[in-house]
Amino acid sequence: MRRKMAAGNWKMNGTQVSLAELAALQGMAQGTVETLICPPATLIYAAAGLKTGITIGAQDCHSAESGAHTGDLSAGMLADAGAAYVITGHSERRQDHGESDADIAAKTKAAWAAGLKVILCVGESLEQREDGTTLEVLAAQLKGSVPDGSTGGNLVIAYEPIWAIGTGKVPTAQQIGEVHRFLRTELASRFGDDIAGGVRLLYGGSVKASNAAEIFAVPDVDGALVGGASLKASDFMPIVSALNAAPNT
Ligand code: PGA
Repeated sequence: MRRKMAAGNWKMNGTQVSLAELAALQGMAQGTVETLICPPATLIYAAAGLKTGITIGAQDCHSAESGAHTGDLSAGMLADAGAAYVITGHSERRQDHGESDADIAAKTKAAWAAGLKVILCVGESLEQREDGTTLEVLAAQLKGSVPDGSTGGNLVIAYEPIWAIGTGKVPTAQQIGEVHRFLRTELASRFGDDIAGGVRLLYGGSVKASNAAEIFAVPDVDGALVGGASLKASDFMPIVSALNAAPNT
């Protein structure tokens, strides 16, 4: 059975005072849900040091082990600071930093080599959704960015429609269900049923307390990647509780 996961992505938000929000989540780590927070890299070491039981992750890594890459961070450095996961392929990185599927595959492999697990994001734009090319786009992203060697132990996939991120717009349960079923089928055709059945599939994009239970009831949704509503413990806690209460999909 896949362990459900509630992952928070703080993006470029948070300073030392924000660690109080993480401390406030402490009790949440005791349920059956794996709870993860990805603070900005500046807070990873301190966040991991709090020993809250909440897993700590990073939001990006470089694909090289070390070298002349001013301002970048290697997966090994993030692991050394206390990260257990790293997000790759977030649409904000694909857009703002021009990251290609090949870049994302390289970063994912670098993360694995450093012992990190990866939450790899895929998602269509509004234009692609309206053109009816969503599944084609997702298939191409999976093919190009998910490396060989993926397993339920090293990979989580997050489906994040770009038009739903930070907008308050959420796909219907049917649309989420269609995509998640498709992702699982695509993974199965490449890696086999056993591996595909072990990879957790998260939904991300405007998840909040008021819509979490409905999203978590969708088959093949194993949890959520949450942006805005992960910044405050009081917003994130009800989402984790909704996931704890959700049926196994
Ligand atoms: P949001 O962001 O929850 O603020 O929409 C989700 C994400 O980008 O991971």
